[in-house]
Parts: sequence; C-alpha cells; structure tokens
Amino acid sequence: MVPHIELNDGNTIPQLGFGVFLVPPPDTERAVSVALAAGYRHIDTAEMYGNEAGVGAAVRASGLDRSEVFVTSKLNNGFHRPDDARRAFDETLAALGFEYVDLFLIHWPLPTLYDGDFVSTWKTLEELKADGRARSIGVSNFQVTHLERLAAEADVVPAVNQIELHPYFHNAEVDAYGREHGIHTEAWAPIAQGKVLGDPVLQAIAERLGRTVAQVVLRWHIQRGNIVFPKSVTPERVAENFDLFGFELAPDDVAAIDALDQGEAGRDGPNPDTFAYIPS
Ligand SMILES: NC(=O)c1ccc[n+]([C@@H]2O[C@H](COP(=O)([O-])OP(=O)(O)OC[C@H]3O[C@@H](n4cnc5c(N)ncnc54)[C@H](OP(=O)(O)O)[C@@H]3O)[C@@H](O)[C@H]2O)c1
Repeated sequence: MVPHIELNDGNTIPQLGFGVFLVPPPDTERAVSVALAAGYRHIDTAEMYGNEAGVGAAVRASGLDRSEVFVTSKLNNGFHRPDDARRAFDETLAALGFEYVDLFLIHWPLPTLYDGDFVSTWKTLEELKADGRARSIGVSNFQVTHLERLAAEADVVPAVNQIELHPYFHNAEVDAYGREHGIHTEAWAPIAQGKVLGDPVLQAIAERLGRTVAQVVLRWHIQRGNIVFPKSVTPERVAENFDLFGFELAPDDVAAIDALDQGEAGRDGPNPDTFAYIPS
C-alpha cells in the first residue's frame, strides 16, 4: 500500500519508513522487528545513532529478502575526510552485516569545519555509488547554498536531501530548491518529535476525521510528496503511523495545516549553517 517514489537515479524508495534516532542500541532489533512485522519496508538509521547492528539483525531475523527492505544510513560528522569516509562506510556495512546500503547520506554539511569542504566528502560518496555498495547517495541538512555548491563542483545530483520539516517548519526554500532540481525531500522529525501533537488546529481535524493527530500530520506529509519515517518504540504507535492510506485530507484541511508554518522560528533542531558537533 505504501507508494514507491522514483529517485533521480532511477532507484525507488518506499515513501513511508521507520526511523531509529534515539532508539537505544539494545532495543533496536526488537523495535525494527515490530516495524517490519507491521509492514514497514524502509528503515532510516545512521552511524551516529549507534544502532546499525540492530537494524541489520532485525532485517535478517525477519525472513525477508534483503532486497525487500530499503535501508538508509549516514556518514558520521567526524569522518568527512575522504579516507575517513571510506573507512566509516566499510564500518557501516560491517555493522549492518550488509553488502550494500540502499541509500547513504552525508549526515550534516558542517560548513564551519573541514575548511568548509563537504565537496570532497560528496565525491567520496560518488565513488561508493559507482562501486555499487551505496545504491543511491544523498545529503542531509544541506541548505540551498550547499546544494548550489555541489551542483557547481560535483557530478552526481543528490537523490535526496533529508531535512527537518513538519507543520511548524516547512523549510520552504530548501524544499523548493529540491523540487526544482530533482532532489527529493525526506522530512525528518515529521511530527516534530511530538511537539505538534497538542496543536488545536490539528486536533480539530483529527477529531473530525476520527484519526489521531500523528496520522493527520503524517498524511499531510504523504500528500505533499515527502518521504517520511516516523520513529516510535511503542508498538501501537508503530502500527498507527503506518495506517495512513485509508483516508485523505481535503484541500481545506491541507490549507489549515499549511498555515501553521512559523518559518525559521518553527525550527526545533540545530541550524545546519552553524551546527559543528563531532561525537566523541
Ligand atoms: N538527518 C537528521 O539530522 C535527522 C535528525 C532527526 C531525525 N532524523 C530521522 O528522522 C526520524 C524521525 O524523526 P524523530 O525520531 O526525530 O522524530 P519524530 O518521528 O517526529 O517523533 C518521534 C517521537 O514521537 C513519538 N511518537 C511517534 N509516533 C507517535 C504517535 N503516533 N503518537 C504519539 N507520539 C508518537 C515517539 O515516542 P515513542 O518512541 O516513545 O513512541 C518519539 O518520542 C528519526 O528517527 C531519524 O531516522 C534524522
């Protein structure tokens, strides 16, 4: 039932997946197993989350063929130099226990580190795509200026840009740049890590439709064409977040949710222009 979206390199990705940010490593195999049993076929992890091994274990334990599950991971911030990135990617594959990932991203652009050079990092990802071990490559938290620089200096256009995006923060300029240039938007924190759930406008729509606020917001993303992967360690919510295809938001409801955008004030996570965190 989950639509598949064609990326600019011809590969396809399930529009709805399951995110594992802040899922503790010892709990990850169980959480991902619950998601796979509920029907999810797309898992979003990262080296920084420390739980790639649990993702790989759950995929193997599911009995599904590797090709049936789309798995994304991301390059950690400490490994942007090309040799480090190559080694980190090997370690990602080893932790997952896979021969390839479906999608590999630069997690953050870190424009204030590495002499502002994320281009050589991107060219290293281009190598990983060329050798087939990353089926698709993309970026995360890239601003328009960063994407323009890749367009000027690199060969491969990122397949996706994974950015903070939810009803309070549409990240409109970055999203629009992606739409114009074939870079698909993946919306992280699609329900703003729970912060939109008490919103009266969303609650009124949810009540009228007999749905939960999380479902209304996730359905809004789906209708906008965003790729989403809500995170939950609560099995009932995992099922609830997957049940988005039996209803539709009318244009008036979409417009009411669109009107909740607060622009930059609605950003909840770090600003990619200044974020410079390297995990120890
Ligand atoms: N690229 C990046 O820099 C970046 C940054 C952040 C996130 N991400 C990715 O995006 C994914 C999703 O973002 P996120 O995890 O930050 O936030 P999110 O999916 O917007 O929200 C997750 C939070 O909402 C709760 N929740 C989930 N479904 C719910 C429901 N139906 N009803 C009520 N509460 C619900 C979860 O609680 P419980 O787990 O306790 O149920 C959890 O506290 C991440 O897991 C990660 O894969 C990427």
